[in-house]
Amino acid sequence: MKRIGVLTSGGDAPGMNAAVRAVVRKAIFQNIEVYGVYGGYAGLMGGNIKKLELGSVGDIIHRGGTVLYSARSEEFKTKEGQQKGIEQLKKFGIDGLVVIGGDGSYRGAKALTEQGYPCVGVPGTIDNDIPGTEFTIGFDTALNTVIDAIDKIRDTATSHERTFVIEVMGRNAGDIALWAGLAGGAETILIPEEKHSMEEIAERLKKGQERGKKHSIIVVAEGVMSGVDFGREIEKLTDFDTRVSVLGHMQRGGSPTAFDRVLASRLGARAVELLIEGNGGRAVGMEKNQMVDYDIIEALAKEHHLDLNLYKLSKELSI
Ligand code: F6P
Repeated sequence: MKRIGVLTSGGDAPGMNAAVRAVVRKAIFQNIEVYGVYGGYAGLMGGNIKKLELGSVGDIIHRGGTVLYSARSEEFKTKEGQQKGIEQLKKFGIDGLVVIGGDGSYRGAKALTEQGYPCVGVPGTIDNDIPGTEFTIGFDTALNTVIDAIDKIRDTATSHERTFVIEVMGRNAGDIALWAGLAGGAETILIPEEKHSMEEIAERLKKGQERGKKHSIIVVAEGVMSGVDFGREIEKLTDFDTRVSVLGHMQRGGSPTAFDRVLASRLGARAVELLIEGNGGRAVGMEKNQMVDYDIIEALAKEHHLDLNLYKLSKELSI
């Protein structure tokens, strides 16, 4: 392994830059050249590839977004697109590729691996929905952004005695909703992994009001339904003054937390080690605070499991 490439793909996540920095610095430390692929898989197919030096990744550890830019590419889902990518990698003499991203990015890395090109996946997404790792890069920062928003919304909810529905991201996973709802003291949390009954929720809200509760915070994962639709349902079933906040893309931005920076540094460096050891076709993760790696092809066949004990706890604590 003389030369490796690194790209970020899919939705950006805070901490991706820290991961890129770790890949570049770890590789150079091991006398390996690093090339940055700009603009995800679309950039790879177009040959948007430049050499990175130690200084290229200076002053980025604390920045949100990704200095390598990102994209979602339909073309790269095709065999032709993947071949174009491999040709570019060969043209630049790149022997292995680190792909930082979510499940779509892993699918791309899996396709390259199946065609004999060594790739290592690093889990970078705010959704925390990648199997084989307890946490993905960006999840902790997004969580803190959501909690900050919930705390602020709570002030208004209390002052105006309102019910607030807060819609959070997560695609088909409920991790952001669950963790943020628990940490933000939400009365109700709706996640795609668990069924809910509108009548039961309305009943809980009414009971809370009878006990003297002046406001309620409900966190809805986008994978369940839109916050606006949910707010309408609540208003139909109760006489509560309801407002909806859709947090949207603010959840993806901002300076990464210390946790995400450390996680990204560890995962990025481990990915380089794997390529050096000749272990392409792997994905890295963290389990019980230890770096782990597993077959990227098998990884995508597995399902991410949200911690349902936390869901149970959130219900017990919000009676
Ligand atoms: O995967 C990250 C994520 O932010 C999801 O939570 C969300 O569903 C999706 O990306 C939004 O994608 P886009 O930025 O393309 O609208």
